[in-house]
Amino acid sequence: MTDELSQCGVSVLAQSVKSDGVAFGERWCSEQQQLIAPLILRLLSLQLIHVACVCAGHNASRDVVTLVKSVLFHRRNPLHFHFITDTVANRILSSLFQSWMVPSVQVSFYDADELKSEVSWIPNKHYSGIYGLMKLTLTKALPSDLTKVIVLDTDITFATDIAELWGIFRKFTDKQVIGLVENQSDWYLGNLWKNHKPWPALGRGFNTGVILLYLERLRRIGWEQMWRLTAERELMSMLSTSLADQDIFNAFIKQNPVLVHQLPCFWNVQLSDHTRSEQCYTEVSDLKVIHWNSPKKLRVKNKHVEFFRNLYLTFLEYDGNLLRRELFGCPSQANPESLQTALEELDEDDQCYDFRRERLTVHRVHLYFLQYEYTPTEDDTDITLVAQLSMDRLQMLEAICKHWEGPISLALYMSDAEAQQFLRYAQASEVLKNRKNVGYHIVYKEGQFYPVNLVRNVALKNANTPYVFLTDVDFLPMYGLYDYLRKSVVQLDMAHTKKALVVPAFETLRYRLSFPKSKAELLSMLDMGTLYTFRYHVWPKGHAPTNYAKWRTATTPYKVEWEPDFEPYVVVRRDCPEYDQRFVGFGWNKVSHVMELDAQEYDLMVLPNAFMIHMPHAPSFDISKFRSSSSYRNCLNTLKDEFHQDLSRKYGSAALKYLTAQRNI
Ligand SMILES: *[C@@H]1O[C@H](CO)[C@@H](O)[C@H](O)[C@H]1NC(C)=O
Ligand SMILES: *[C@@H]1O[C@H](CO)[C@@H](O)[C@H](O)[C@H]1NC(C)=O
Repeated sequence: MTDELSQCGVSVLAQSVKSDGVAFGERWCSEQQQLIAPLILRLLSLQLIHVACVCAGHNASRDVVTLVKSVLFHRRNPLHFHFITDTVANRILSSLFQSWMVPSVQVSFYDADELKSEVSWIPNKHYSGIYGLMKLTLTKALPSDLTKVIVLDTDITFATDIAELWGIFRKFTDKQVIGLVENQSDWYLGNLWKNHKPWPALGRGFNTGVILLYLERLRRIGWEQMWRLTAERELMSMLSTSLADQDIFNAFIKQNPVLVHQLPCFWNVQLSDHTRSEQCYTEVSDLKVIHWNSPKKLRVKNKHVEFFRNLYLTFLEYDGNLLRRELFGCPSQANPESLQTALEELDEDDQCYDFRRERLTVHRVHLYFLQYEYTPTEDDTDITLVAQLSMDRLQMLEAICKHWEGPISLALYMSDAEAQQFLRYAQASEVLKNRKNVGYHIVYKEGQFYPVNLVRNVALKNANTPYVFLTDVDFLPMYGLYDYLRKSVVQLDMAHTKKALVVPAFETLRYRLSFPKSKAELLSMLDMGTLYTFRYHVWPKGHAPTNYAKWRTATTPYKVEWEPDFEPYVVVRRDCPEYDQRFVGFGWNKVSHVMELDAQEYDLMVLPNAFMIHMPHAPSFDISKFRSSSSYRNCLNTLKDEFHQDLSRKYGSAALKYLTAQRNI
């Protein structure tokens, strides 16, 4: 720890002296300071701060990000987050932090399922369910050498540096083991309504949304037995807890009042009905931590609620990439060494520098942004529709859901603010709300290109069925395609052969199309000129090898040969090659993928009774850039050459045909 920071200890000193009001030159840094930096650090006690959160499910995993952002925004210390998670939250948060790469932040995960047996015997009526109670088990769950930890609920927003809160541990008397803020409601005073009988508490009781836990001392006094005994005794008359862990903490404190250190109430300003939170601070600028008491109360009685809501919204929409900035200008520790080396090897004079730089950008990824519940069908024929999109295609989602009832894996390329807009859109849409088999994965925007293949790969890798239908979001599948594809997968023995099933693509230029209900109907619309084969006017080569003439009369699947620039939409096994991420923006992103399928000797089989139709939309930004910039096109050619070389390296002389084909165009 000290090593990690020693190089920058000096500027830390400069900063913190300044913040104490003493003017101090920023450029105090010099070589000798490397020697004294560790000492300075100790003097400043720029400690590693430990934070624990219990986090389960999709909603809490989303909420906790806002908490984390608010903490990171104000912090100056290195942090270690300890997350007690279920499987869902573990998957979401581990990939998020891995891709976020925030310097001086460590993250550890602890399996909530293993702690269930510790608390499942306690009957509980609180909405937090069994997970809320897990805060009682932290002495056991967290590493035994961890001495202190700040425990936070996921519905907390920080308005100040968490180091200030951490500093309060120093004010504990020798006996004190738990730091808490008084409950600002009258709950524990009882008599809120007839026969309201709360658990015993000291005075108005304490709120457990923010806890300072002195783990070392708790272990020493035998906390584990103590809280259990308290709970068992109270449960004889109370029968269940109403406020989960909070009831047990309060009953415990009532019996052992010397053990509690009361925190000033601005460390947990509780927004809920019947609270007296306004007495907590005189100026809003004094307040340090806001506790939303979810499910979020929209109409709370607090005259500063607008201020609070703005603060919350700020972090909700705050660009998380900005939190990657290094502490105190220290050299980055977050980038893995290989990435660092790759970045250094880039040549800035290379005309493709921007493309290559983009290829090395690590985009932050939030998997399963919304609730997702889906178990693939048991017959091993299940297929996920895989696509990617950005904000400007959101309006396609409802229609796609109506045309495809199977599972969907979508990667959305968005900013933090757009992700929140998307969330509101999805929560307001009846169609989307009722679908639990759509996995939404946010890939956060960064840089000037649209990293389309990276985004596609996120959608592809997070499909959890044996097969995937690789499509684009501006296509509507024919009705019944899901069932038809599942049958075809069996018929064509996809499990044991390498095949890519081609779904023929058409397009309409009409915004209001009465969608054909059958192949016959589609053919007659084709004859009438209401529909065309896809890109018929602008890029016929992309789909010509599908052989539409043959398809008209085909009744059984037929094999077609790969040709240059062929980019059909296909169903393949999920273990197919990934998309090549060097292709960003417009051009060659699917072509390269199909080429690699061919190089791996996939048979391309056209399905006689499947079709999909492209719906019209305005051209995307990257296409216009492609059309107008010659350096963009030149660079695309360079990348193509390199891709060909890599193919030959991987697949040997057989791959030479792609190069020859390219030359002959
Ligand atoms: C998650 O949030 C949504 C929308 O706010 C809500 O409808 C849903 O019930 C929540 N899910 C869980 C498991 O709490
Ligand atoms: C205090 O009591 C209220 C009951 O009014 C309860 O809902 C809440 O969880 C407790 N803590 C607060 C208000 O933060």
